[in-house]
Amino acid sequence: MKRRAFLCGSGAAMAAGAGGLGVGLAWPQLGQAAALSHDLTIQPARYALRDGVMTDGLVSLSADAPPPVIRGKKGVPLRLNVTNAMPDYTAMHWHGLRIPNGMDGVPYLTQFPIAEGETFAYEFTPPDAGTYWYHPHCMTMSQMAHGLTGVMVIDEESDPGFDGDEVVNLRDFRLQEDGSFLPYFTPRGAARSGTFGNVQTANWLQQPVYDHPAGGLVRLRVVNTDTTRIYKLVLSGAEAKIIAWDGHPTRVDVPMPTADDPMLLGPGQRADLAVRMPSGEGQQVDLLAQLPGYVTKPMASLRAIGADLNRSLSDLAPLEENPVNLPNLDQAELHEFVFGWTPEGDAPNDGLCGTLGYSFWSINRTPWAGDAAENVGPLATLERGKSYVLRLRNESPNLHPIHLHGLVFVPLKSNQRDLPPLLTDTMLLLKDEVIDIALVADNPGDWAFHCHVIEHQKTGLAGYIRVT
Ligand code: C2O
Ligand code: CU
Ligand code: CU
Repeated sequence: MKRRAFLCGSGAAMAAGAGGLGVGLAWPQLGQAAALSHDLTIQPARYALRDGVMTDGLVSLSADAPPPVIRGKKGVPLRLNVTNAMPDYTAMHWHGLRIPNGMDGVPYLTQFPIAEGETFAYEFTPPDAGTYWYHPHCMTMSQMAHGLTGVMVIDEESDPGFDGDEVVNLRDFRLQEDGSFLPYFTPRGAARSGTFGNVQTANWLQQPVYDHPAGGLVRLRVVNTDTTRIYKLVLSGAEAKIIAWDGHPTRVDVPMPTADDPMLLGPGQRADLAVRMPSGEGQQVDLLAQLPGYVTKPMASLRAIGADLNRSLSDLAPLEENPVNLPNLDQAELHEFVFGWTPEGDAPNDGLCGTLGYSFWSINRTPWAGDAAENVGPLATLERGKSYVLRLRNESPNLHPIHLHGLVFVPLKSNQRDLPPLLTDTMLLLKDEVIDIALVADNPGDWAFHCHVIEHQKTGLAGYIRVT
């Protein structure tokens, strides 16, 4: 693993004045902030994930399409009526959104699971703009593995000045040649780095190509919703820059990935890139994934069409900031968390939410007793409004994308690499890595805290943090 240089640039140095070119997307006007409402029905689906080969047994929000991009707007109330049309129990989680605890979708911690035929109305006002996503937090492994992972875009209050906006939802499926599902996990995988899919998709498609104006500026939102794979990504064929990470605008310059130093995007993570489309009609920009065995595969491409808009990345003003409180390190209390293996013990009790039947992982040497286990206390209790440093220590050779609900944190330091201070909700821990993160405990509630390799989460690497 190479150390990624961290250039402490200044966002303020970027030229302001986007929008003057008059080629922006139609931007919904503020003023009448009526609530946005979406009806979502979790249901069985079928779809050709491989060209011409139909896969049955998918789970989505319609019978024949991937989970849609759900759009909301910063500061505008959002109502999501989630109906369960599956025989299993479920609950929906809005990953990365800082919303009231009762709307967070974690069974037994914030709500009871949704039974077949029931509807749960999730209502909240997104405080932050950016790229987020949604997935079930009950029957998590089986429903996610069978397709139920979608992207959520929360628009800024003002038009950030792009000519196009594209979402790329990266995820793998475990399929046989005939398109049917392989077992969605193996105990061997769960006890190591997870069970990998064998069919990589972008928006459930094989190498889709999306048209955008030649010479235009496209916001490319790359989201890893896979249950297991840490994607290694490179963009080729265009000038681009990273403008947001895990939803929040980058406050410092982050170097673009290269073939020797690709972008590591763990399950749950998102990167927003500003891409300057090539000027020549038909020229392509490829999002390349480096897969095991020295295979490089285009996951999705952007193709330039029409006359050259002749725009420049410097036309873009920095994205509007989100109202995140930054921690005060002078007074921050330290809490330590150790992520590692555990002797095989009782499988977590997940009540109606499905168990994998094993316990392999632990936080602070204690495997999660399960979503429905009684009398399981928080891993830490934080006082509302105070700043904290959390020390995350990976004691295993496997990588863990560690995710905290309801709050946003900033990495301070690692024992292995320089980390840019990007606001995030998911921190990828490398082998034997120790990372200090800091946050302000400003959202009260019990917030799930777990590895986003779902097999790790469901076999012990989970818990919660209480904010009083
Ligand atoms: Cu994206 Cu607890 O999850
Ligand atoms: Cu989450
Ligand atoms: Cu893990």
